[in-house]
Amino acid sequence: MKILIVVGTRPNFVKIAPIMDVIDNYNMDKDGRQQAIDYLVVHTGQHYDNKMSNSFFDDLGLPEPDIYLGVGSGTHAEQTGKVMIKFEKVCFREKPNLVIVVGDVNSTIACALVAVKLNIPIAHIEAGLRSFDRTMPEEINRILTDQISDYLFTTCEDANMNLRKEGIPESKIFFIGNVMIDTLLSQIEIIKNSNILKKLGLKKNNNVKKYAVLTLHRPSNVDNLVVLKRILNILNNISQIIPIIFPVHPRTIKQIKNFKLEEMVSYVEHISSNELDRANQNILAIQPLGYLDFLCLMSNAALVLTDSGGIQEETTMLGIPCLTLRNNTERPITVKEGTNIVVGNNFDKMIEVTLSVLKNGIPRKKIPRYWDGKASERILKILKRLL
Ligand code: UD1
Repeated sequence: MKILIVVGTRPNFVKIAPIMDVIDNYNMDKDGRQQAIDYLVVHTGQHYDNKMSNSFFDDLGLPEPDIYLGVGSGTHAEQTGKVMIKFEKVCFREKPNLVIVVGDVNSTIACALVAVKLNIPIAHIEAGLRSFDRTMPEEINRILTDQISDYLFTTCEDANMNLRKEGIPESKIFFIGNVMIDTLLSQIEIIKNSNILKKLGLKKNNNVKKYAVLTLHRPSNVDNLVVLKRILNILNNISQIIPIIFPVHPRTIKQIKNFKLEEMVSYVEHISSNELDRANQNILAIQPLGYLDFLCLMSNAALVLTDSGGIQEETTMLGIPCLTLRNNTERPITVKEGTNIVVGNNFDKMIEVTLSVLKNGIPRKKIPRYWDGKASERILKILKRLL
C-alpha cells in the first residue's frame, strides 16, 4: 500500500506527526525491515519560513518531508492552482493507493481535488467541522474536501451530524477523535523543558507571572485597517489588566506594518528577559514560536485570546480559558464541553469576560470523547480494514 500524506501549514505538521508515528510502529511490528505501509510526506510549501515550518519538524522529531513542492504564498487561486499542478505530477509519478489530507487549508482542498480526478481514494482527517460562515476561505475548503473524500475522520459528534446533513453516507464517516490532541498528549511532559517563560521574564525563582497569550491571523481580523485597529485597541485595554504576549503570524505583522499600526504593539525581533518590563502595559509582540515553546507558553497562561481553530481545542484540553475573537466557531464542542467562549468583536464582552475569567477562572467541564491520544491508532485500524 502506498500513501501520500499532504501537509502545507503549521497546524498540518502537528496533525500528521502521530499518524506517521502509528504507521512507523505498525511497520516495525510487522517485519523489522520491510515496510508494510509505504508512505511519503508531501509538503506543499504553503508555509515556508523557518519559524512556520522547519522548526515544527524539529520540535516534533519529524524527518524532512519526502517531497517539497515549494508553492509559497499567493492569492487563493494562485496558491491552490500551483499546488494542484505540482501535486498532480507527484500523483502520476508515485501512483498512490490513498491520499491523506488534514484540516481545512488551501493545500488540503488543492490536493484532494487532484486526487479525486485521478480516482485516487482520499482520507480527510478533521472532517465535518463547520462554522456556517462561507466568507471564511477555510469553510469552502472544508465543505468541498468532505464532498470528494472517501474516508471522513471526525473529531466530534457535531461533525458527524454536519456530514450527514450534507448527504455524506454513514459508511464514509468515522468518529475517531482528535489527532492534534494525540500530539499534545505525547508532548505534554517534554514542554516542561522549554525555557520560554524564563526567556520572556515570565518566570522568576519558580514563580510564574500572570499573563495572557494572543494569536491573530484570520483575514477577517487582520486584513482590514479599521477592524485590526479596533481589535488592537481593545487588546491594549486588556493589556492594562494583564500583560499580553503575542507571537505574531507573518501575515499579521505584515498588515500591522502596512497599516502603520506599529505603535499599538511593542514588537521585538529577538527576545530577552526584560522585554515584558519594557513593553510596559502594552502588547508584547514576538516572532512566531515553535510548537513546544508555544505549548509551554499557552499551558501556563491565565488566559488565551485567539482566532485560531486548533488553539480552541488545545486550550480545552489544557483547561486554560480561551476567548475566541471571532463571531463563530467550527468547533462548538470546545464551547459546550471545554473552556472556550466566543466573544467575536463584542468588545464590552471581551473586557467583561476577561475580568470574570481572571477573577473566577473557568469551570472545567469535560474532555470531549475520544480526545484521548488514540485517534491516530483508530485511523490506522480503519484504513487497514478498508484498503
Ligand atoms: C493558513 C490557512 C489558515 C490556517 C493558517 C495556519 C488557508 C486559506 N489559510 O492561513 O486556515 O489557520 O494557515 O497558520 O489555507 N507567510 C509568510 N511566511 C510563511 C507563510 C505565510 O510570510 O511561511 C505570510 C505571507 O505574507 C502570506 C501570508 O502569510 O501571504 C498568508 O499565508 P497563507 O498560507 O496564505 O495563509 P495563512 O494566513 O497562513
